[in-house]
Amino acid sequence: MRIAVLGGDGFVGWPTCLHLSDLGHEVHIIDNLSRRWIDAELGVQSLTPMDSIQERCRIWMEVTGRKLHFHLLNVATEYERFRGWLTEHQPDAIIHFAEQRAAPYSMKTDRHKVYTVNNNVSATHNVLAALVETGIDAHLVHLGTMGVYGYSSIGAPIPEGYLDVEIDTPNGKKEQQILYPTRPGSVYHMTKSLDQILFQFYAQNDGLRITDLHQGIVWGTHTDQTKRHVQLINRFDYDGDYGTVLNRFLIQAAIDYPLTVHGTGGQTRAFIHIRDSVRCIELALGDAPKAGERVRIFNQMTETHRVRDLAQMIAAQTGAEVAFLPNPRKEADENELIVKNDQFLALGLEPTTLAEGLLDEIVDVAKKYAHRIDRKRVPAVSAWTRDIAARIETDPEGKRLRSVS
Ligand SMILES: NC(=O)c1ccc[n+]([C@@H]2O[C@H](COP(=O)([O-])OP(=O)(O)OC[C@H]3O[C@@H](n4cnc5c(N)ncnc54)[C@H](O)[C@@H]3O)[C@@H](O)[C@H]2O)c1
Repeated sequence: MRIAVLGGDGFVGWPTCLHLSDLGHEVHIIDNLSRRWIDAELGVQSLTPMDSIQERCRIWMEVTGRKLHFHLLNVATEYERFRGWLTEHQPDAIIHFAEQRAAPYSMKTDRHKVYTVNNNVSATHNVLAALVETGIDAHLVHLGTMGVYGYSSIGAPIPEGYLDVEIDTPNGKKEQQILYPTRPGSVYHMTKSLDQILFQFYAQNDGLRITDLHQGIVWGTHTDQTKRHVQLINRFDYDGDYGTVLNRFLIQAAIDYPLTVHGTGGQTRAFIHIRDSVRCIELALGDAPKAGERVRIFNQMTETHRVRDLAQMIAAQTGAEVAFLPNPRKEADENELIVKNDQFLALGLEPTTLAEGLLDEIVDVAKKYAHRIDRKRVPAVSAWTRDIAARIETDPEGKRLRSVS
């Protein structure tokens, strides 16, 4: 297949490109490198030393003899160029990662909120409008998030996208399946909820073939392909805005920094290893809906954990301390999360569990590159509201953390 990977320079995009290229697909990376610019804006860098995208592609060619094509293009603002690109290259599938993906970044200031909405909603809509206009029947696979469901504790498993409901009508009760109601907890999650509506409309109106992967928090760094050469290494974000909870705990343990748990740590989240994430994308590509079918939605996660349990698990393995800090987010202190992921298991996914993969990651990545960490960038300081901003901890290594629990 000829596959366009929008956002192919990112944390999940890059290993996906290598995985698909390794399988023999013709892979085209479309990226505006905005994520690299955001690193510059925030004054942070990936824990792992990342080469330029051109250099990464050159090394892949050297190691495997396979070409990765790179196109510098902003999917959100360069509609005409994107449409022209589609017409010229006629991809069989498009994988869409090209969005601003950090909830804390999306909540930093009004400017970050505006940027996140403009970038994410326009990127998704541009892809859909261009597919209709060009008449290209590519399967669109989008990376959404488990976070669109919100984190309430109703106790029932979260289904894969659709909820069975019974509606009272004058002729009695009628059964229907509706999109599971969203309850986004940040501007970023809100854009992913809007994406769902855009997909629903274009699948029903224009027969576009769309798969939406509601992904859990991705952890880990390496895949079989990124390990083939030191310069193919994946991005690893550890900072308070882009670092995801488990990866942050791993680096905190590696640099002898207390594991920073927000609030009571009673938040339950869904997780997936990066190796499984790329494999799921391969499986979804092989299972495309037909034109006229509704959007296919998968829950792309393999296990759920409570944040404080994760911290305690890592503390037990590494001897790190755990520190409970005020929560910068506006969210429930505690939530349950039960998630269905039967579809990927039925397609043959064999999950990497945390218990088996964890220590390798600490040793291989976090400790190896610990010298690149700026400790001042570790705390999460982006607050969800002004009131919360007044009480968040901006210097966790100061007085407060010296008295860890
Ligand atoms: N990382 C996770 O834990 C996680 C969890 C759930 C869902 N997701 C979703 O998966 C996708 C990829 O996540 P990631 O962690 O790889 O993010 P990332 O920020 O590392 O990668 C996103 C890539 O998209 C590019 N991009 C952004 N806007 C663009 C635009 N307008 N035009 C062209 N390129 C653009 C960026 O430069 C970057 O290379 C995101 O959509 C995210 O919402 C990620």
